[in-house]
Amino acid sequence: MNDLKAHLFICVNDRGEGKKESCARKGGQQLKDEVKKLCHERGLPKDLYRVNNSGCLGPCERGISAVIYPAGDWLLDNTPADAVKLADLVEKAVRGSGT
Ligand code: FES
Repeated sequence: MNDLKAHLFICVNDRGEGKKESCARKGGQQLKDEVKKLCHERGLPKDLYRVNNSGCLGPCERGISAVIYPAGDWLLDNTPADAVKLADLVEKAVRGSGT
């Protein structure tokens, strides 16, 4: 577990209809599922990365929120169409920039 090169958390929090906006209402689960599928299809070693659901990360008004560790980079303003972009970040962290 300590050897993870990338641990991506994508918010799937759902406050429900008529409440303050939340990432599930913008496609958070769809985005997370697609990123995970892409990482799997790319053959990334499963012991080197995780793509997990998260609860509210805070910046709810900034699209679907995500954060990747160990870099600690916030990835905001996402939509379900950003799955490739996020999978690219995971792949880069796992494989390193030189490959
Ligand atoms: S509901 Fe996703 S960041 Fe708050």
